[in-house]
Amino acid sequence: MHLPVFLEEVIDYLDLNPGDRIFDATLGGGGHSKEILKRILPGGKLIAVDRDPEAIDRNRIQFQEFKNDVIFLNENFRDIDSIVEKTGIDQLDGAIFDLGFSSFQLDESERGFSFMNDGPLDMRYDKREGLSAKDVVNGFRESELIEIIREYGEERHAKLAARAIVAARKKNRIVTTGELVEIIKSAIGWRYTRQKLHPACRVFQALRIFVNAELAAVEEGVNRIFPYMKQGSRICVISFHSLEDRIVKNVFRNRSRSGEALLLTKKPIQPNRDEIRINPRARSAKLRVAERIV
Ligand SMILES: C[S@@+](CC[C@H](N)C(=O)[O-])C[C@H]1O[C@@H](n2cnc3c(N)ncnc32)[C@H](O)[C@@H]1O
Repeated sequence: MHLPVFLEEVIDYLDLNPGDRIFDATLGGGGHSKEILKRILPGGKLIAVDRDPEAIDRNRIQFQEFKNDVIFLNENFRDIDSIVEKTGIDQLDGAIFDLGFSSFQLDESERGFSFMNDGPLDMRYDKREGLSAKDVVNGFRESELIEIIREYGEERHAKLAARAIVAARKKNRIVTTGELVEIIKSAIGWRYTRQKLHPACRVFQALRIFVNAELAAVEEGVNRIFPYMKQGSRICVISFHSLEDRIVKNVFRNRSRSGEALLLTKKPIQPNRDEIRINPRARSAKLRVAERIV
């Protein structure tokens, strides 16, 4: 089951009213959108974006009775200018970015996001776009793999992991998540025996971030939405690892220094123990909120 993270906090910060126009950059399972819709109707409009066509299809069914109140768009939120042009709505009352992958994507082994389920090594939010994790793992030079794993996974043992990938693919192409997990485990598993973290966690994070160019999307999307926010409106961003959070923090700080935004969360909001118990996905979540003031 998909439980939205920081649902109450996001709804409180967005301070919704009937008639509001709200931008959900990451529709996912529709958890945030559902609660937003309840509060902006009648008269409001929800712009619901997801890069994953399957997420859009699922939500079209889920929100069928609201089809006149929601504009569904299968787009990358980094393309905010063209999204705005398509909708014709360039004055927003609030926005939410809930970054990363959804539990639907994680649970579906066919998508190749999970190191816990065996499936094809893909990891793209939209399979029609760019290289898959399989292309990267089998086609990139060892030095490039080291850089990706180090930079986007913050994996200290990137060299060992990349070397093992290159040695393994010489024998057979690596085509499933299970094969990659075994390779990583045999290379660096022993370094993780005393940690809670799965040995393949950081390598999987690195590949996912790389194949989807996630960090550039976050920087562009969160930055470029500002001009479309009304005075007094708020942008909520939920991130799940330090690389994302750093970008959000910098974008917000720059907008605050230029006098455009007020930071409503000087320090990011983090989940309490109860939230983590109910929703383990919230474990590493951080929420930052900024208000457009001019
Ligand atoms: C954590 S889930 C969102 C969950 C949602 N807030 C909910 O309550 O159900 C993140 C979603 O963002 C989508 N996504 C990731 N990067 C994106 C991007 N650059 N543009 C649009 N959607 C993106 C993913 O496909 C995924 O469905």
